[in-house]
This record gives sequence, structure tokens and C-alpha cells, in this order.
Amino acid sequence: MPTLANTRLDLPPRTDLEAEIRRLKEERNAVLLAHYYQESEIQDLADFLGDSLALAQAAEKADQDVIVFCGVHFMAETAKIVNPTKTVVVPDLEAGCSLADSCPPEALAEWKAAHPEYAVIAYINCTAGVKALADCICTSSNAERVVASFPEDQPILFVPDRNLGAWLNKKTGRDMKLWQGTCIVHETFSERKILDLRAEYPHAEFIAHPECEPAILRHADFIGSTTALLNHVKTADADELIVGTETGILHQMQRLAPGKRLIAAPFEGEESCRCNECPHMKLNTLEKLYLCLRDLKPEIVMDEELRKAARVPLDRMLALG
Ligand code: 13P
Ligand code: SF4
Repeated sequence: MPTLANTRLDLPPRTDLEAEIRRLKEERNAVLLAHYYQESEIQDLADFLGDSLALAQAAEKADQDVIVFCGVHFMAETAKIVNPTKTVVVPDLEAGCSLADSCPPEALAEWKAAHPEYAVIAYINCTAGVKALADCICTSSNAERVVASFPEDQPILFVPDRNLGAWLNKKTGRDMKLWQGTCIVHETFSERKILDLRAEYPHAEFIAHPECEPAILRHADFIGSTTALLNHVKTADADELIVGTETGILHQMQRLAPGKRLIAAPFEGEESCRCNECPHMKLNTLEKLYLCLRDLKPEIVMDEELRKAARVPLDRMLALG
């Protein structure tokens, strides 16, 4: 039961944050949605915990007055797009994403204009402006299904993740043109150190998220979205697993597979950089969550025309299941 005095964030002294967050959730008729990359104490308070797809689906179905979104900006924006009558608030409006930042809508509009015969599939890690230019959205959970929903002879532009795109090209045999964005967390893993670790733990499986670079993915025994990795850890025969994704997921993995040894995949650079933690996701804290429920801000506010345009490709994805 963390209590603290924090004048910087304007908290009353010795606030029992967890109890207050639970109380305010009731009072505000709010639902707390959280991504698996959140701090463990936020995960433990969430009404619904999921990957990007499950969170978009949960946001669409939410019937409370307020959606409190503990993830990053594009996720909360997606919640507002699919459920516009709700008040959507976030603990920190600055929680962004390197993939979303890599692809400004104006640059995508130019790329599209240069390839008029191409359809656009946008990974959900992008801004509403980019979604509005896409034919369909995908997440790492449903990306293969989304690609397969386009005719085989349909040329496709895939934005913004070049690593997920390259993995999809390999899996589906397509030749999608790829935007050159990357995730700052998933591009950080060290091939050399992973091979050293495999030598040290010869019976361990190496599992990885498709946002990782091809040089890493080629060593993986299993590749999947956050939820797929979680399910795999539960069912895998291996008792030791090297996990190539953001470390926030280890909290639920260890809970679901308490007897297994989970080893965070090593990254390039100094231990102190904690490069396998998403700095954007970790901007959300219990203190900011409390304040956001108390003050109902910062709120996600969107231009209605943009929201409607971004909803079309999101609905197409959601209809695919
Ligand atoms: P998923 O939740 O779809 O696996 O995506 C991972 C991620 O990096 C979210 O930003
Ligand atoms: Fe974006 Fe990567 Fe952070 Fe996910 S983990 S929010 S893809 S920077």
C-alpha cells in the first residue's frame, strides 16, 4: 500500500494511491484499461489488461462514462475514435511512440500519391492522421489476417514498422513496400548476446515480438504479439524462456507460468540504460493516474472529421475479429 507525500504532483500527503484510485474509479464511473507494458502496480489496478488489439476491442465495448487509458497516446486516441461519446483520459499526454513519430501524415500522403495503385495497411502504432489515410489498420495480433484480406495481386504500402512489415512479407509471400519506422525498444536487442545466452541456457526457448529486427527474429523459436507470447509461455514445454520484448510483460508471464524461468533478452548498451523498457509507457505512474482520475485530465480531444476518417479503417480491422 504505497503512501507518499508528493508536492511536485500536488498530492495530499500520505495518500494511499491504490485505494484512492479504486475509489475514484467508482466515483467517476470509469473503466481502467492498461497495456501489458505498464508498471506492475498499474497492471494490478486495471479492469482490463491487454495488447493493442484487445484494448481497442475493450474500448469499443466500454459502457462507463470515462475510459482511463494507461498505455501510450495512439492507444488512447484509438479508444476515442471507436467510442467517441466517452471521456478518454490518460495519466500523461506525452506518452508517445517512436513508430507513430516516424510517420507524419503529410509524408504518408506524399508516398500514397506517388503510388496511386497501392492500398495502405497501417499498424495501429500510428497517429489518427495516418489512420485516416489507411485502407485498413492491423495490430501484431491480427496482421497476417489483415494482409490476407487483400487480394493477392493488390500492391500494398505497409506503415510504419519496417520490422513487422518484413516479417509479414516473409510469412505471407507478399512484397509490401515498407515505411522505415522502428520501435526504439524492439530494435535494441543484441544478436550476439542472445546467442551467448542460448549457449548458457541450451534448453531455453527464445521467443520474440515481430517488432524485433530480422537478425533477431531469425533465432526465435516462436514469434508473436504480446498476447501470443503470453499464451505461448503458459503452454510451452520449455521450463526456461528468453523473452525478446518489452519487460513489462514479464509480470503477467511469471504470474501465469510461476514455475518457469523467464529471462529478459539482452540488449546493446549499458545495463543502466534499461533499453528493454519503453520510456513512453513508463511515463505513466500511480501518482499521475490518481491525478488524472481526480481531475479528469489530460483528456483526449479530437477533431470530429479526423475521428470519423480514422474510424473507417479501424472498423474494417475490428470487423475482421
Ligand atoms: P502489441 O500490444 O500489439 O503486441 O504491440 C506491442 C507494442 O509495442 C505496443 O506498443
Ligand atoms: Fe512504441 Fe515501442 Fe513503446 Fe510500443 S514499445 S509504444 S512500439 S516505442
